[in-house]
Amino acid sequence: MSKVKVGIIGVGGIATDAHIPGYQAVQEVELYAVADVNYERALAVANQFDLPESRAFADYNDMLALGVLDAVSVCTPNNFHAPASVAALEAGVHVLCEKPMAGNGKDARAMWEASIRSGKILQIGVNSRFGARAQTLKRIIEAGEFGEIYFARCVAMRRRGIPGWGSFIRKDLNGGGALYDIGVHILDRTIWLMGAPVPLSASAMTCAKFGTREGIVNPWGQWDVSKFDVDDFATGFVRFENGAALLLETAWASNIEGVGPSYILGTEGGCHVDGNVIYKQRHDTLVNETYEIRDAREGTHTIEIRKFIEAIREGKPSPVPPEEVYRVQLIMDAMYKSSETGEEVKIHYTAP
Ligand SMILES: NC(=O)c1ccc[n+]([C@@H]2O[C@H](COP(=O)([O-])OP(=O)(O)OC[C@H]3O[C@@H](n4cnc5c(N)ncnc54)[C@H](O)[C@@H]3O)[C@@H](O)[C@H]2O)c1
Repeated sequence: MSKVKVGIIGVGGIATDAHIPGYQAVQEVELYAVADVNYERALAVANQFDLPESRAFADYNDMLALGVLDAVSVCTPNNFHAPASVAALEAGVHVLCEKPMAGNGKDARAMWEASIRSGKILQIGVNSRFGARAQTLKRIIEAGEFGEIYFARCVAMRRRGIPGWGSFIRKDLNGGGALYDIGVHILDRTIWLMGAPVPLSASAMTCAKFGTREGIVNPWGQWDVSKFDVDDFATGFVRFENGAALLLETAWASNIEGVGPSYILGTEGGCHVDGNVIYKQRHDTLVNETYEIRDAREGTHTIEIRKFIEAIREGKPSPVPPEEVYRVQLIMDAMYKSSETGEEVKIHYTAP
């Protein structure tokens, strides 16, 4: 196969800082074109990465109409993930779409269905799965060292880290706030480590306690307080079909520092997800097994891109099965609904 020709839809921060450098690190790829509703931005990025200006587009449909792309990265705000991904899949182009999968579960399902119809790969950018620690832990869990996993606590708390750039704080563009931005990473990685059980229900509280206030100290920059209409904190409890449960705590801003790490409990072993020790019982005593983490030489975005390109070239399925991330989207939707209604919300997962 000749080089995989790649286009980028939405060339903001994550595209220029992670996706484009990631594709450039993979020999079998040709970065071919870029598209952004902000045409000036598309042109600037084309210049920055030595593409002819004729390969910068304001409308991604015009880029897809070239008919030469094999794959695209979708790096737009969340609410445009679905239309851009579906258009690309329907044009016969493989898609690596940033997290969260979409701005809501209905859109996420449309993306999954489009990938099934087209037979093209849909990979969601849950890059934290590809960290050396997570990969090591996954191998240990899959070997049965934890026995039955029945509970996990996943925590991603910032003292002050409200994104002061882009449009993260706007619901009309992104669908949600801290839960969709950082909660999704920790939820996805934890549920993947648990063996991707099917969720049954969620009960949650989400709120905005900092984003709507003037004068908040925030080293991540200043946002427009009058436009902030998403959550900056979320906590939730999820039940799964296999009897397991999960607790989530996530925040862009909070008055706490150094909140204890995420952990996973199994009948035969347990661990802190950010540590390197497994707690067990053996020979009538308690044992702590230390495992070595061989650091990958590349960042998680580049690894995810390598896996994407390898799957395209070798005709493999998506390295991140869409149904797993779709279920995470359903959990987050149920959390928002539960917060609104004050009640536990049932999750009705079905495959297309
Ligand atoms: N995996 C990660 O760790 C990670 C980190 C940061 C951001 N992200 C995700 O990446 C996506 C983009 O985030 P960002 O920080 O790059 O935002 P950004 O605001 O810097 O960039 C978004 C770009 O998309 C463009 N755009 C908006 N609507 C468009 C459309 N309909 N068609 C084409 N272009 C469009 C904007 O003009 C902008 O240039 C979000 O979904 C975010 O959740 C993921």
